[in-house]
Amino acid sequence: MDGPLDPKVLYWTGALANLLVIAALAVQGVRLARRGEYARHARAMRAAATLVGAFLLSYALKLLFLGREDPATWSRNAVTILRVHELCVLVMLIGGTVALVLSRRLRRTATFTRAASDPAAPPALSRRHRVAGRSAVIGALLGAATAALVLTGMYARARWVDAPALAQHEPAVRE
Ligand code: HEM
Repeated sequence: MDGPLDPKVLYWTGALANLLVIAALAVQGVRLARRGEYARHARAMRAAATLVGAFLLSYALKLLFLGREDPATWSRNAVTILRVHELCVLVMLIGGTVALVLSRRLRRTATFTRAASDPAAPPALSRRHRVAGRSAVIGALLGAATAALVLTGMYARARWVDAPALAQHEPAVRE
């Protein structure tokens, strides 16, 4: 590690740690749902969603105080990985929001409350929640994996690690 400490790189290091916790909570949430422990499932997923909200807030503050990254200086591989990463995060955000919205109706069903007096969960509602939820969890897992690669590129540009394929954009040499 021979480059200076860059506050943006430190910020993204914290963001990756946050995303790893989100992905772990999401995987645990799926396990709980499969065991039928829906109250604990809902808590795990809401905790994950709160951390996503905290990230979005921190990102707004990061833009305000530290500014944007400049991918024009990144290697082509690093930019491709960034775009794939952004797509994964988008899937996580959309899937998670849809799953959360649908869960408000699931909460009033016998599947969740276990009360015989409550209506059974409509199969289409369960299916939509499952599909949206699984998309969000897959987005979170792939988002965390690609975030680790994006961060490796940042470390390489800061000269903290040696990863030439993810480091600087090298302009073509003119004859
Ligand atoms: C972003 C938040 C959430 C995500 C990503 C999510 C994800 C999932 C997934 C992937 C499943 C299917 C598990 C499987 O069998 O593979 C599931 C099932 C379920 N979730 Fe969630 N969930 C979320 C929030 C909630 C909340 C807040 C509740 C509270 C009501 C809830 C209630 C349920 C119920 C009752 C089922 C079983 C549905 C059925 O099979 O009938 N979920 N969820």
